[in-house]
Amino acid sequence: MGFVRFLVIGFLVSWVLVVGGEELMGSPPVSPPCDFPAIYNFGDSNSDTGGISAAFQPIPSPYGDNFFHKPAGRDSDGRLVIDFIAEHLQLPYLSAYLNSIGPNFQHGANFATGGSTIRRQNETIFAYGISPFSLDVQIWHYDQFKVRTSDLYNQAKQAADRSKLPRPEDFSKALYTFDIGQNDLSVAFRKMSNEQLLAAMPDIVNQLAAAVQHVYQQGGRAFWIHNTGPIGCLPVAVMYIRNPPAGFLDQYGCIKGQNDMAVEFNKQLKDRVIKLRAELPDAAITYVDVYAAKYGLISNAKNQGFVDPLKICCGHHENDVNIWCGNTANINGTEIFGASCGNPSLFISWDGVHYSQAANQWIANHVLNGSLSDPPIPIAHACHKH
Ligand SMILES: *[C@@H]1O[C@H](CO)[C@@H](O)[C@H](O)[C@H]1NC(C)=O
Ligand SMILES: *[C@@H]1O[C@H](CO)[C@@H](O)[C@H](O)[C@H]1NC(C)=O
Ligand SMILES: *[C@@H]1O[C@H](CO)[C@@H](O)[C@H](O)[C@H]1NC(C)=O
Repeated sequence: MGFVRFLVIGFLVSWVLVVGGEELMGSPPVSPPCDFPAIYNFGDSNSDTGGISAAFQPIPSPYGDNFFHKPAGRDSDGRLVIDFIAEHLQLPYLSAYLNSIGPNFQHGANFATGGSTIRRQNETIFAYGISPFSLDVQIWHYDQFKVRTSDLYNQAKQAADRSKLPRPEDFSKALYTFDIGQNDLSVAFRKMSNEQLLAAMPDIVNQLAAAVQHVYQQGGRAFWIHNTGPIGCLPVAVMYIRNPPAGFLDQYGCIKGQNDMAVEFNKQLKDRVIKLRAELPDAAITYVDVYAAKYGLISNAKNQGFVDPLKICCGHHENDVNIWCGNTANINGTEIFGASCGNPSLFISWDGVHYSQAANQWIANHVLNGSLSDPPIPIAHACHKH
């Protein structure tokens, strides 16, 4: 299953900016940072910090090597964007809700799992690695988490019994982050025509909006919503293409038709977020253009100190033999391991599907300050409505 997951799924994927209300003339308008006590995240492998590893087969070595020095439930050599978000907000890395071994939920929880989609897919994980924990199921998990941790917290007899639980009052002060949709596109590329995908898109976007509405009804107020990345630039999307017709690839070697679908998804998502702001008057909802960050990195790889963005660090890919990162295969009597390259920090793609830690850090640096957000506020201020 791990093998298949790498092929198809894993598909993934402070300073103060002056914004704000009632500033005095002549003095910079500065609203205080939000001091988020917790982060609750929903998503796919782009932000899974151990969910699918806990529920199914653990992600193997050399995943995690470059930072955790062991597999850490993440589809990367190290940290993900969600880890850099946690660091930036001075909160601990998020424990996966599904991880029963030693989690600490005092400052939030992560409901993301590698292979997750917004919509249910009627597919087992053993086929193409699509996670059974679609966004609606992640919302069930969130509801259970909130009810059960609040019960436990309120019943606790001593402080030690509360130490790994969130304070019930923090749910309404937390930051709610979403990074999901990439696998809805990857499934559609496999099963649907472009026309069918376009017809389905409003429903996909609406189901993401429904998740936000649900969390709002549960008291959530600050939402930070990533759009989806340039899926047609993933090496795994491009590597089987031989003799593409003119215009099939863009100037960076990405599959243009796939990126066009991601762009259309993002346009509809942004429009839906604008509607959500009217529907949820007390919410601060930030739409974050992660696509622009990732495509900006890919189109400037060399200037930014990276190798060819379509090159893969981890795995063995030679002469039409593909052994995915962390897998072993017997090729003509020789055991070959899909090992890490020597210098993962120079690569954008870690395993052909997922970004390296260095790329994730670059992406985080470009999105956390709000320069790619609507409204353009830094993440530490994302509780303020505009
Ligand atoms: C899954 O199957 C159900 C029932 O047949 C159907 O209503 C739903 O549209 C299917 N979902 C997808 C994503 O194909
Ligand atoms: C395996 O051996 C066969 C027969 O010698 C050869 O044709 C083929 O190219 C080899 N495959 C690889 C990947 O080396
Ligand atoms: C945000 O950070 C990026 C990367 O360091 C930088 O290029 C950009 O100018 C910054 N934007 C703002 C508004 O500070």
